[in-house]
Amino acid sequence: MRNRLLALTAVTGLLVAACSGGGGGGTATQGTGGGGGGGATGCTIGVSWNNYQEERWAKWDEPAIKAAISAGGGTYISNDAKSSADTQNSNVASLISQGAKVVIILAQDGTAIKTAVASALAANVPVIAYDRLIEDPKVLYITFDNKLVGKLQAAALLKVKNAGNFVVIKGNKADANADFLRAGYVEAGLPDVDKSTDTLKNVGETYTDNWDPAKAQTEMEQFLTANGNKIDIAFVENDGMAGGAIAALTAQGLAGSVPVSGQDGDLAALNRVALGTQTVDVWKDARLLGKSAGEAAVALCSNPDPSKVSGAAAFTTPGGNSVNSIFLTPDAITKDNLKDVLDAGWITKDDLCKGVTAGAVTGC
Ligand code: GAL
Repeated sequence: MRNRLLALTAVTGLLVAACSGGGGGGTATQGTGGGGGGGATGCTIGVSWNNYQEERWAKWDEPAIKAAISAGGGTYISNDAKSSADTQNSNVASLISQGAKVVIILAQDGTAIKTAVASALAANVPVIAYDRLIEDPKVLYITFDNKLVGKLQAAALLKVKNAGNFVVIKGNKADANADFLRAGYVEAGLPDVDKSTDTLKNVGETYTDNWDPAKAQTEMEQFLTANGNKIDIAFVENDGMAGGAIAALTAQGLAGSVPVSGQDGDLAALNRVALGTQTVDVWKDARLLGKSAGEAAVALCSNPDPSKVSGAAAFTTPGGNSVNSIFLTPDAITKDNLKDVLDAGWITKDDLCKGVTAGAVTGC
């Protein structure tokens, strides 16, 4: 917590913390990273969003990126691919034709985007893979430790219930984070994909196109029906989808009795944690991620070599590439430490505690 606050107030500060491994082998430095000298005066930096409608991007990530770019004297431009991999490929080209000298990409599809990335690099435009991996050794990958996100989710659920029927609702298959999180579940003791143990029985597992909450609700409804409502634990990879899964549980009178996970610190999700219908919300302070990427982009304006960006360290990807990476550390928020998100100014007490009996949980 202290580190988080320090990092928030630092201008180009770098915090190097103990490395916990990262999302799929190899190691990378943790910290806010991103700086590295040089300025971005006259430098245009383009951000290609893929699903801008998701709460976190406009609310937290984008303002932090913008602030870091403008502090470095640069100009921010952006577009949104609305969950289309094809659109995103042309959007990246469009940012470059509008003058972007560095592009930051939140990839819809980590493989499909490689076409646009190759063109950008060929035109000497450095690329930052933002939040989600792009399998190219020349990009700079800046993210939270996604395997740890999964490990924290699963550990919190298994702490509440460690036996019975479980389901796994994963995010978009083309987003490497879906599998990083699932690998983190295994580290916390959950059986691997489609596997069971004597005590933990896998009764349903699926990816969810575009991390779509409505699709996650349908998936949960189908799992409940197929198992005669006998589901004991739901491993759900993000908050939007947790909302869908919990709506399906609510319809069966099961919300609050089936532990459910999520990530992102969405306001509605943190309120569900306070209400007791969601067990854990892995909170990634996106203000730090955006700041780190904005500062890295500024540094790349003057030196395009990603290995020279402050805090960057080699990470071996699942595809076997060695990618310069900066990993930040996520936090698990449960009913026991809701105060952390209040103290960090992430959420107001009104939003957090809506409908919660006063004193029922610390913070409300
Ligand atoms: C993931 C990201 C999550 C969540 C999700 C849906 O890649 O790490 O924070 O937002 O995408 O967009």
